[in-house]
Amino acid sequence: MASTTKSSPLSFSLLLIFTLLFLHPIVSSFTIKEATVADFQLGFQNKSLTSRQLVQFYMDEIDRLNLTFNAVIEVNPDALALADAADRERNAAAPGQSLSDLHGIPILLKDNIATKDKMNTTAGSLALLRSVVPRDAGVVVKLRQAGAIILGKASLTEWANFRGKRMPSGWCARSGQGKNPYTSSDPCGSSSGSAIAAAANLAAVTLGTETDGSILCPSSYNAVVGFRPTLGLTSRAGVIPITLRQDTVGPICRTVADAVYVLDAIAGVDSHDAATTEAAKYIPTGGYKQYLKTDGLKGTRLGLLKDAFFNFPTESVENKTYERHFNTLRQRGAVLVDNLDASKFMEVYEDIGTNEILAMTAEFKLAINSYLQTLEVSSVRSLKDLIEFNNKNSDLEKIEQYGQERFLEAEATNGIREKEQEAIQKLADMSRDGFEKIMRENNLDALLASPLSLASSILATGQHPGITVPAGVDGEGLPFGLCFGGLKGSEPTLIKVAYDFEQATKIRRPPPSVTHSSY
Ligand SMILES: *[C@@H]1O[C@H](CO)[C@@H](O)[C@H](O)[C@H]1NC(C)=O
Ligand SMILES: *[C@@H]1O[C@H](CO)[C@@H](O)[C@H](O)[C@H]1NC(C)=O
Ligand SMILES: *[C@@H]1O[C@H](CO)[C@@H](O)[C@H](O)[C@H]1NC(C)=O
Ligand SMILES: *[C@@H]1O[C@H](CO)[C@@H](O)[C@H](O)[C@H]1NC(C)=O
Repeated sequence: MASTTKSSPLSFSLLLIFTLLFLHPIVSSFTIKEATVADFQLGFQNKSLTSRQLVQFYMDEIDRLNLTFNAVIEVNPDALALADAADRERNAAAPGQSLSDLHGIPILLKDNIATKDKMNTTAGSLALLRSVVPRDAGVVVKLRQAGAIILGKASLTEWANFRGKRMPSGWCARSGQGKNPYTSSDPCGSSSGSAIAAAANLAAVTLGTETDGSILCPSSYNAVVGFRPTLGLTSRAGVIPITLRQDTVGPICRTVADAVYVLDAIAGVDSHDAATTEAAKYIPTGGYKQYLKTDGLKGTRLGLLKDAFFNFPTESVENKTYERHFNTLRQRGAVLVDNLDASKFMEVYEDIGTNEILAMTAEFKLAINSYLQTLEVSSVRSLKDLIEFNNKNSDLEKIEQYGQERFLEAEATNGIREKEQEAIQKLADMSRDGFEKIMRENNLDALLASPLSLASSILATGQHPGITVPAGVDGEGLPFGLCFGGLKGSEPTLIKVAYDFEQATKIRRPPPSVTHSSY
């Protein structure tokens, strides 16, 4: 070192101290890119990571990448303060005191999930901007209790895709068109922003909602894990509704384990959603993470309804991607029951679409009107007000292009009358004579499906759970998933099966378009 001759011993030791201080965080640096909840918790424990650093990282990534993907509508202005509080809480915890798995972990919420804080809850619509919700959504109460940090609101197909029939997936007036980081095009919906954000690593974990396919489809398209829980397992209170008969809230994350940590935090009774009392019987003592087992497929019976139900992406049929997956499942000890009568099964569901939309249209009017009534402040109080708002703000809300037919059709309904009751009954009968029957008669643990098939409607109308796991990428670079559907309350089985499949295949790759800033 030529300059040492000029340095006094003091400045040399200062330099040394400075170097050590400066090097310290680099030596023990934590790689956030693609890290899991378990990694974060280890990082917190060995003090190579703080919640503040984690939140700051995601805020920087959102700043850098949101313009490209439009996945985030708002960042919580209090996120860093919440992170500091979590860091203080962790440092003050008595040795051996265990904090929740989500403690100090930032989470993005689909913008139809209410937060009583400085953020808006709008379902992507300008009509609800500056409205004030009465309280946090039930799932948000539970997330805060677990110590999770609400990082922001994710974009979505506006009104969870129940406004117009020409609405593109992932578009909403508040943040424009969300983009799939793998293809730069369709992210699928309606929990598009949550899936994009998880895929592009704009959040540690996220929440979506599903009425029919809105968790499973975007998760499949963005190569992430999407979990739609049994109806009522997670509270819908404070979630901008379509219908309480089908709405469910669930995690969208990069791994099955992360999704399960989130499910553990949000599942359970909420006095503001009666369905949670009934569904609580399904929650196992000790929660769900005990089912993250790599021998989870052993001895399971998985139903396979080829062709009709599966709707394989063409590429994967030619390349036999799914065939390879089926072999993997067999090698891991599952029995694939593939002699099921697909045509008889599909016959049961012939009218599913018509009945579903008939019921939903009337249910939506009732549900959205009562949601709007609960707001403490709002310039819209009914579906009628929403329609008028859209007409007045037709340019911003793109009413000419994307329409509001669902709103108009819903407004024309008059409650649950005979024909709606019939439709609802038919949907229940279909589930009994279709999915529930085939599962019970064949003693199946889960049914395999493409998340893009009729499977999503079958699970949704029957109020059954499903999970999709990344399974491949088609010739155009569009990811696709493998979905496991089960009977109500079968989350433990679905977790075992999905986790084992994921660990055996590890197919997910981060989107090539996203180069991460290092931390
Ligand atoms: C702390 O844990 C993280 C996550 O497992 C790991 O990457 C890192 O190397 C650990 N650092 C130290 C100093 O042990
Ligand atoms: C809602 O959004 C507006 C406009 O972006 C913003 O000024 C406000 O702080 C947000 N939050 C609430 C609770 O209004
Ligand atoms: C993300 O981008 C959209 C569209 O440009 C914008 O409306 C939104 O406010 C942005 N979100 C954040 C957190 O900057
Ligand atoms: C299928 O094979 C073709 C040609 O080998 C390849 O270009 C394509 O990416 C493959 N698709 C999948 C899903 O593996």
